[in-house]
Amino acid sequence: MAMAIKSNRFVHLCFLLFVVSTVLLQTTDGRSWKKRPLRQPCRNMVLYFHDVIYNGKNAMNATSTLVGAPRGANLTLLYGKDNHFGDLAVFDDPITLDNNFHSPPVGRAQGFYFYDMKNTFSAWLGFTFVLNSTDHKGTITFGGADPILTKYRDISVVGGTGDFLMTRGIATVNTDSYEGDVYFRLRVNITLYECY
Ligand SMILES: *[C@@H]1O[C@H](CO)[C@@H](O)[C@H](O)[C@H]1NC(C)=O
Ligand SMILES: *[C@@H]1O[C@H](CO)[C@@H](O)[C@H](O)[C@H]1NC(C)=O
Ligand SMILES: *[C@@H]1O[C@H](CO)[C@@H](O)[C@H](O)[C@H]1NC(C)=O
Ligand SMILES: *[C@@H]1O[C@H](CO)[C@@H](O)[C@H](O)[C@H]1NC(C)=O
Repeated sequence: MAMAIKSNRFVHLCFLLFVVSTVLLQTTDGRSWKKRPLRQPCRNMVLYFHDVIYNGKNAMNATSTLVGAPRGANLTLLYGKDNHFGDLAVFDDPITLDNNFHSPPVGRAQGFYFYDMKNTFSAWLGFTFVLNSTDHKGTITFGGADPILTKYRDISVVGGTGDFLMTRGIATVNTDSYEGDVYFRLRVNITLYECY
């Protein structure tokens, strides 16, 4: 009799262990967070944009300007301390098909960036490519963190209009050229996963 009760308890214990381990497995092995396969990219293109930062002397050529700065800084020059932390710039930059500043622009990159880390160079980018060329008519809107010192940074393609109606994807950005606090050029490799 005692033997029978013991084995009954053993069965219960085993059952309990089984249930607990199944629940644990489901929450830790990702089965309950099953990844859907990523669809194939539907479009890819590489474009460049050129940012000439206002420095107090280049009003004619500047395509971006500070519109916000931390207390103690000014809107003429990027804040010298804290890796420009707190500076906010608005830009209207030419977009080109190659890395030549003097190539005919195919559109404008319009938006803003702000420096958002004190201990390293880091920014947040929000902008739209306004494309109006024979090849592309429409807009693509981007947003995301830009850890400037990392060679390749992925930002989100959050939408579009015209030829890029309701698109989504990823843009890999890299700093193609950098001249002090006066000029930088970003290469943007746009991979779209939703096209209509
Ligand atoms: C504007 O750019 C041109 C060509 O790069 C240069 O020759 C000129 O000096 C610049 N003007 C100003 C005000 O920076
Ligand atoms: C702006 O600040 C910089 C230093 O960060 C300084 O060199 C410059 O003279 C200031 N400009 C004005 C107009 O105050
Ligand atoms: C796009 O280009 C066409 C033809 O050059 C022009 O008529 C139109 O105004 C341009 N649109 C914008 C938004 O610049
Ligand atoms: C652009 O990015 C895609 C996806 O990461 C990659 O497969 C492709 O080789 C890149 N193209 C260029 C020209 O760098």
